[in-house]
Amino acid sequence: MTPLNVAEFERLAAEKLDAGALGYFAGGSCDERVLRENVEAWGALRLRPRVLVDVGEVTTATRVLGTPVSMPVLVAPTAFHRVLHEEAEVATARAAEAAGTLMCLSTLATTTPGDLAAAVPGAARWFQLYVFRDRGITRDLTAQAVASGFSALVLTVDAPRLGRRERDLRTGFRIPYAVPSVGAATGVAEGLSPLEALGAIDPTLSWRDLEQLVAESPVPVVVKGVQTREDAALAVEHGAAAIVCSNHGGRQLDAVAPTAEILPEVVEAAAGRVEVYVDGGIRRGSDVVAALALGARAVLVGRPALWGLACGGAAGAQQVLDLLRDEVELALALCGCASPDAVTPAHVTAVRSRA
Ligand SMILES: Cc1cc2nc3c(=O)[nH]c(=O)nc-3n(C[C@H](O)[C@H](O)[C@H](O)COP(=O)(O)O)c2cc1C
Repeated sequence: MTPLNVAEFERLAAEKLDAGALGYFAGGSCDERVLRENVEAWGALRLRPRVLVDVGEVTTATRVLGTPVSMPVLVAPTAFHRVLHEEAEVATARAAEAAGTLMCLSTLATTTPGDLAAAVPGAARWFQLYVFRDRGITRDLTAQAVASGFSALVLTVDAPRLGRRERDLRTGFRIPYAVPSVGAATGVAEGLSPLEALGAIDPTLSWRDLEQLVAESPVPVVVKGVQTREDAALAVEHGAAAIVCSNHGGRQLDAVAPTAEILPEVVEAAAGRVEVYVDGGIRRGSDVVAALALGARAVLVGRPALWGLACGGAAGAQQVLDLLRDEVELALALCGCASPDAVTPAHVTAVRSRA
């Protein structure tokens, strides 16, 4: 039976994966409070549909940093796709390309930027950057990504250390494949735990490094992992071309607010100077429309694409992206919006208490 929605893909993927892999991909940090609340917070918003608007023709198409995409849903950077499917990140990129959207390749990918570009040359792609303690490795990786046609660098700033992932501690999950960037940084080809892999990341990174990266990068730099108005303002001041409002899918600090709650303050601080994206817990097209109404230009999905990849490789991941696009299209039509640009702050409200 073909899954009809993201939750059904998640259940199917959970049946296919062993405990170690499932714990790594599905899990969050500590008590997994934010993991749950990310999803619940979108559900606590209410859309305010407008009627008698001509929605005979609805488009979900939009642009992110000037790149046309079929919908305001991008594929978030996530690590180690080979654990889920033998075609790994190449399958995910094929799916994104077929669905007309953009994929962000992780530094912790099991495919190099060069190999991905060679396999899927037409795919719209950004490269997510973790800065290694060994800056030479980061320089080589960035140069390779830029030379391979990745049109933005997405600097992830919320992981100076790995969050406390108790599922991984329990299962003892180790990555059974080579991770080229980490291999270069640690000299260990494969079999590392996520904690060991993240140990190669430089925890001393600061705003000055962002400024330097922006100055040296021939492509725009997106800052991913902003959770406060203060940091949104600093990111813009230090040259970010866009911001991803993100708590890393509930995998880092488990005592923070869900992203649906903090998006408005990040959007306010960005003040229209840069595009703002959001991720964490987006599972339905109506969540996407709510995010647009709160001021996001687009959303990213992490686990939904991974569940599709686990269920059916490129075809499975494409199914997930296609169904999200269909859901976004329907939600737009039912809100009286003929395009993502037609969504306004008046299209969403928080649930009011009855007291
Ligand atoms: C298994 C997994 C691996 C991830 N790996 C990375 C990564 O390598 N780099 C990064 O910036 N974010 C990483 N993230 C965070 C995602 O980019 C994104 O912020 C998060 O998945 C969004 O939440 P969602 O899964 O609820 O959609 C990862 C998330 C998951 C679930």
